[in-house]
Amino acid sequence: MRVVTQLATGGPEVLEMGQAEVPEPLPTEIRVRVAAAGVNPVDWKTRAGQGMAAVIGPPPFTVGWDVAGTVDAVGVGVTRFAVGDAVFGMPWFPRQAAGYAEFVTAPSRHFAHRPARLSAVEAAALPLAGLTAWQGLVDVAHLRAGQRVLVHAAAGGVGHLAVQIAKARGAYVIGTASVGKHPLLHDLGIDEAVDYRAEAFERAVEPVDLVLDLIGGEVAVRSLDVLRPEGRLLCLPSAAAVDAVAAAAERGIRATGMLVEPDGDGLEELARLVDERRLRVLVAETFPLERAALAHRAGEMGHTSGKLVLTV
Ligand SMILES: NC(=O)c1ccc[n+]([C@@H]2O[C@H](COP(=O)([O-])OP(=O)(O)OC[C@H]3O[C@@H](n4cnc5c(N)ncnc54)[C@H](OP(=O)(O)O)[C@@H]3O)[C@@H](O)[C@H]2O)c1
Repeated sequence: MRVVTQLATGGPEVLEMGQAEVPEPLPTEIRVRVAAAGVNPVDWKTRAGQGMAAVIGPPPFTVGWDVAGTVDAVGVGVTRFAVGDAVFGMPWFPRQAAGYAEFVTAPSRHFAHRPARLSAVEAAALPLAGLTAWQGLVDVAHLRAGQRVLVHAAAGGVGHLAVQIAKARGAYVIGTASVGKHPLLHDLGIDEAVDYRAEAFERAVEPVDLVLDLIGGEVAVRSLDVLRPEGRLLCLPSAAAVDAVAAAAERGIRATGMLVEPDGDGLEELARLVDERRLRVLVAETFPLERAALAHRAGEMGHTSGKLVLTV
């Protein structure tokens, strides 16, 4: 099968096409013929030797954790899927899933049935970013109707899904983005959009119950100023979370980092929101698998609206 591989860590140019054996599913696993693979910041961080590179070990390796496709074989004991089913998932994270490939094998519970309303490309854009938003807002922060949440980078991969999930749970949602993206945010149902380039968000925003920070660094620390006394900071760029959590502790504020986990139940919750027309997936651009380096270059600019996806 065709697979994107890298023999060294480094810039996008280290990504190259290679060949590998088609993997066989073990008991409880399914094999998915991949139609599309989502691209996430952790992919280019890992490619460069950060992100999950320490988990995966030295190259050669293949990045990519978001896949959508068709079940091609099932291992002994699998009851939830049959050959031919359309599925999507975020297998194996943070171990190597090798999602930038024609076939992936993984435990069946790392997948869910693809909602009929989503194309394979849209479904490949949803798992990692959607599960991050779901697990953060719902499992960790227990976001409730009527609460106020500020989402940083609200137009990005995680952000645009977090805005919709928070709205679906009845929250009042504020998001930061450059002004050109505000029409998109209003289209997604946001209550207030803040142009972080024109004004300091901590002066523009009334106190909130939760900040979902997708930027880190000084944005995470400044976010402590917009929290209500019982409020909470959820800081997702993992490398930034330690400093933000320490700064919050000094001020007696709750702050948490988290790392998204494979979660078939969470995928089904996302699929339900899609079916109910309360969650849309925005795909900014697609690239053929062979052009993975171009997708990484585009993503690393840091200004994507929605998601980038590889077609396989
Ligand atoms: N811990 C976890 O489990 C986990 C899971 C997923 C993602 N993450 C991390 O979360 C971060 C975001 O991921 P993502 O996939 O959403 O990234 P992304 O799609 O690449 O984010 C792009 C967005 O960031 C916005 N942006 C850039 N600088 C900004 C600023 N200073 N203030 C507000 N918005 C800004 C851009 O909007 P403009 O063009 O308007 O600037 C753009 O829409 C990454 O660091 C990623 O590694 C962590």
